[in-house]
Amino acid sequence: VSPTIFLSGSMGAGKTTIARALSPDAIDLDASIEAREGKSVQALFASVGEAGFRRIEAAVALEVAAARPAVVALGGGTVTDPAVRRALLRAGTLITLRARPQTLAARLESDRSRPLLDAAGIDRAEILAQLIASRADAYAECHATIDTDDGDVASFVDRIRSIAARRPLAMPLGTRTYPIDVGRGLDAVVRERIEQLSPTSVVVVCDEATRAIADRLAPSAPRVVLPPGEAHKTIASVERIWDAALEARVDRRALVLAVGGGVVGDLAGFGAATLLRGIDFAQVPTTLLAMVDASVGGKTGFDRAQGKNLVGAIHQPRFVVADVDALVTLRDRELVSGLAEVVKSAWLEGEDDVAALEADVPLLRARDPDALERAIRRALRTKIAIVSEDEHERGARAHLNLGHTLGHAIEAASGWRETHGECIALGMIAALRIGIALGDATPADLDRATRLIAALGLGVDVDAALASPAIPALLAADKKRDAGAVRFVVPGAPGRIRLERLPIDRVLSLARAVT
Ligand SMILES: NC(=O)c1ccc[n+]([C@@H]2O[C@H](COP(=O)([O-])OP(=O)(O)OC[C@H]3O[C@@H](n4cnc5c(N)ncnc54)[C@H](O)[C@@H]3O)[C@@H](O)[C@H]2O)c1
Repeated sequence: VSPTIFLSGSMGAGKTTIARALSPDAIDLDASIEAREGKSVQALFASVGEAGFRRIEAAVALEVAAARPAVVALGGGTVTDPAVRRALLRAGTLITLRARPQTLAARLESDRSRPLLDAAGIDRAEILAQLIASRADAYAECHATIDTDDGDVASFVDRIRSIAARRPLAMPLGTRTYPIDVGRGLDAVVRERIEQLSPTSVVVVCDEATRAIADRLAPSAPRVVLPPGEAHKTIASVERIWDAALEARVDRRALVLAVGGGVVGDLAGFGAATLLRGIDFAQVPTTLLAMVDASVGGKTGFDRAQGKNLVGAIHQPRFVVADVDALVTLRDRELVSGLAEVVKSAWLEGEDDVAALEADVPLLRARDPDALERAIRRALRTKIAIVSEDEHERGARAHLNLGHTLGHAIEAASGWRETHGECIALGMIAALRIGIALGDATPADLDRATRLIAALGLGVDVDAALASPAIPALLAADKKRDAGAVRFVVPGAPGRIRLERLPIDRVLSLARAVT
């Protein structure tokens, strides 16, 4: 089933015309509102004011989003309500149609039914320009933007169909919104995304394992080929990126393209965040862990002797393209490691995602590409919802650290011999033990998570991991600590998560308690 296509954008941008060309059954939101309320939009504005109209419009938009797939021409202001916008982004493909104010004014010249254009004495193009400017963030939060100044309806229809068929995701962050493509055979998509940005130059960062992919994607761009592994997530690697970019004489409109796992992505992102005080970067994640987690959300940085990720910056990518085909060469251990973050996301999201993941276990173990794509999409939806509400981790974003407080300590205690995901899986089991002790989780929740983690091929021996004498000091070095306590992510049943400030010794004693 093709997903719902929502067309947004200013009045006059072409929403109704293009929607009809996409489907004879296209829904016009204004017409739906008029039918429901028995009044014209103009009359509604007059009787209940703009705020009242927006409330009615939001209700109708949410109904349409929940209904069967369709093509929907939204109202010009529908997406100004953030809750509506996010619901539309989740329910289908949201496309913003855009045109210059003069184009819009010319198209609307004979139209006298537009309440927001009726301010006497003011040039319509001027009003439209102000309207678009005031809605810049809302219109930018979409899966794609199409300029309709030039070109014919048939070509817009083709483009919209091909975009919708890819079912792109998007991280909605106002004018810093970026598209996230997930699928197979996406080399052309990467090239198209680069072309859309039209950077002055591209610098590629990869590691030895991903060099071949980087060569294919951007054969002529200067590149930094890092030695693989967490041991190289250091300032020395960042310096190599800085130097390669500066030697290539990058300017403020250059692009750093990260092709690799979480290590390459975090380093390239930090390099881009700091080069010339911040240039663009984009992510082509090549490990499952990077596809479901590290490549989206904008956290970048590197490790110090004192601990992981202690120096960094939040710098969002301009696009992310996760090509499941890249996973073919990934070692089994790395793939399974990524599945730990998939379990984490599912547990954060709720029952439906956990059940879907449980059902897909055999396919995931067999590396079925469709099952992998489903898992990546579900995990990304969760991450997108959380990050878009709390980019700077003042609240709910901390939920993404489920399993990480103890997981990071276990990882460091193993001398990085265990992978990130292997340790996060153990950290989640330990967190559920704490959840039981605090009355949030039940032994059945712990048992379910443990079985799922084991079925995916991850270790579950938490007691052995926590027995390491290095753990207390490593926990005390956690960057989320303050005054001997950590903001601990306490899990309950799937979808039930909360934060509690816990003293470090209590975290350990509760996690070690055999339940
Ligand atoms: N920024 C964030 O929000 C975020 C989130 C989670 C994790 N991380 C970071 O991500 C890192 C872990 O990521 P990772 O597991 O991807 O590690 P990684 O980048 O070290 O990749 C793991 C291994 O797989 C190899 N590899 C990568 N792609 C491959 C491919 N397609 N085929 C074969 N081999 C391939 C790499 O060379 C490496 O040896 C950690 O440093 C962690 O801190 C960041």
